[in-house]
Amino acid sequence: MQTVLISGGTGLIGRHLSAMLVKKGYEVIILTRDTARHKPGNNISYVGWDVNQEQIDVAAIQRADYIIHLAGEGVVDKKWTEARKQEIVDSRTKSSQLIVKALRDNENHVKAVISSSAIGWYGADTAESKKQGFVEAAPPSPEYLGETCRLWEESIEPVTALGKRLVKLRTGIVLSNDGGAFVEFKKTLPLGIASIMGSGEQIVSWIHIEDICRMYCYALENEQLHGVYNAVAPTPVTNKQLMLSIATAIKGKAFIPIHVPVFVLRLMLGGRSIEVLKSTTVSAAKIKQAGFQFLYPSIDAALTELGKK
Ligand SMILES: NC(=O)c1ccc[n+]([C@@H]2O[C@H](COP(=O)([O-])OP(=O)(O)OC[C@H]3O[C@@H](n4cnc5c(N)ncnc54)[C@H](OP(=O)(O)O)[C@@H]3O)[C@@H](O)[C@H]2O)c1
Repeated sequence: MQTVLISGGTGLIGRHLSAMLVKKGYEVIILTRDTARHKPGNNISYVGWDVNQEQIDVAAIQRADYIIHLAGEGVVDKKWTEARKQEIVDSRTKSSQLIVKALRDNENHVKAVISSSAIGWYGADTAESKKQGFVEAAPPSPEYLGETCRLWEESIEPVTALGKRLVKLRTGIVLSNDGGAFVEFKKTLPLGIASIMGSGEQIVSWIHIEDICRMYCYALENEQLHGVYNAVAPTPVTNKQLMLSIATAIKGKAFIPIHVPVFVLRLMLGGRSIEVLKSTTVSAAKIKQAGFQFLYPSIDAALTELGKK
């Protein structure tokens, strides 16, 4: 039985991914800051780490055949003060550095490291990206999110010098009933309101939870995958299309669309409003060329499945 060690495996993606890996016959070990909060289950166990104290469970590193690196403070959970922005960066870079150090200092047989990154790497759409989507070779945006992703990707890169295959998945907005953006997007629906953000013309590059987890498994199991891949569905949509499609999938015709003005979003969210107002069209061509097949390539397919639950 092959073992996958997942940092931050207690989160939205990690919980779904762990269950998927166990179903596929893997043993999963999750690195968490608080082992007491989690009960080990069938082929899933939890080990502790403390990134700030540079403590990590060496036995788990030595058991692992693969590492999936998901850990990081929630990007939109709290107001973006300067201190919070630094926490968001540090939780990703310092945790990467600790994994690199553990692999360097301890004998191990880890074959590959699959790390999360995000489409925050890219800036707002350009005339070219609007036509074909941002491709992986595009430079990082100099804005906060672009810089965060650049530091994050850079921090895990040294595993390649240790002979480990590295894949980085620049993840779009994950749609899941268990948390994250989709749950937020649905919040006004019980009131019969579909909230469109600003003009609603901005493009959202999204991915269904099942497909992002399948992509992690694909990256793990296919040795020809190396480097960066955009992890987004091949059909980005406008915010308005997304909000109306969600409302229709859940409420049928029983809702009214309301545009939430940009100034209200800025007042409510501060700097984080960029997450819902920025237009980012991201290309899925590279991962498709690598042979990955989406279960939910269209927003209608994704929402039909999510709407059933
Ligand atoms: N969900 C999305 O839409 C999306 C989009 C783009 C990129 N991503 C990226 O994909 C990764 C996984 O996403 P997710 O939605 O599953 O995130 P999540 O639900 O927020 O889970 C992340 C996990 O990271 C751990 N963590 C948080 N702060 C930490 C810190 N300071 N030090 C060490 N570990 C820490 C937590 O585990 P413990 O509390 O157990 O330690 C948490 O469960 C994240 O890095 C995220 O930025 C997600």
